[in-house]
Amino acid sequence: MRIGIVGSGNMGGGLGKLWAKAGHQVIFSYSRDENKLRQLATLAGQTASFGPPAEAVAHSEVILLAVGLSALEEVIHTVGSLDGKVIITCVSGLQPDFTGQTIGLATELKNSVAERIQQLAPHAKVVEAFNITFAEVIGSESRQFGSDRPSVFYCGDDSDAKKIAAGLVEDCGYEAVDAGSLIVARSLETLATAWVQFSVASQLFPNLGLKALRR
Ligand SMILES: NC(=O)c1ccc[n+]([C@@H]2O[C@H](COP(=O)([O-])OP(=O)(O)OC[C@H]3O[C@@H](n4cnc5c(N)ncnc54)[C@H](OP(=O)(O)O)[C@@H]3O)[C@@H](O)[C@H]2O)c1
Repeated sequence: MRIGIVGSGNMGGGLGKLWAKAGHQVIFSYSRDENKLRQLATLAGQTASFGPPAEAVAHSEVILLAVGLSALEEVIHTVGSLDGKVIITCVSGLQPDFTGQTIGLATELKNSVAERIQQLAPHAKVVEAFNITFAEVIGSESRQFGSDRPSVFYCGDDSDAKKIAAGLVEDCGYEAVDAGSLIVARSLETLATAWVQFSVASQLFPNLGLKALRR
């Protein structure tokens, strides 16, 4: 797949490298440091490149949105048309001091960040994924916890987009768990907040993975 990374920091850089190594065409974008983008593309290998966000979006069928919440609206308004694109978002509404969620407080924000993205890009196919996954784990060789694969819960309203997202989750070595339609992002984003709070309180941050156990 052709994947545009918008926000090439801890999450975008880590996921983009894994997808490039899995053979996808990855374009890294949106960093204040062009050298960082160049380095990421070099590390990721032959199927990776870098460029301005509008180029990454125009050339890709899947977009990973991995920016801070405060940059979200500006980014969506400046990257060009997102119509028909699969947008995977891991953007979190977690407050910087981890005390809770930003969403639900500001009136212009809807009930989840993912729904807000869908509102801003109504013809895109938004899928929420990777919100309950620490970048430190994504970037580590031991992200599979021995023989155990952590789960990545994803949700969205477009079934084809969800299939694509699930494949990309699996390509990173995680188990993809379908959590339902996009409205579930409200709960997943809240769960992500609880997960961060728990990991800090328990002093287990960041060496944690969430697993849906079956019996
Ligand atoms: N880190 C995690 O474990 C984790 C887990 C789940 C969800 N999330 C969420 O995922 C999103 C990304 O998190 P992250 O940890 O990857 O953040 P990050 O490392 O700060 O990455 C954000 C990226 O956006 C870029 N950026 C910010 N302001 C910019 C500007 N004005 N112009 C150009 N580029 C700009 C940064 O550029 P620079 O390269 O110049 O810094 C960076 O590449 C956030 O919403 C976060 O809450 C994070």
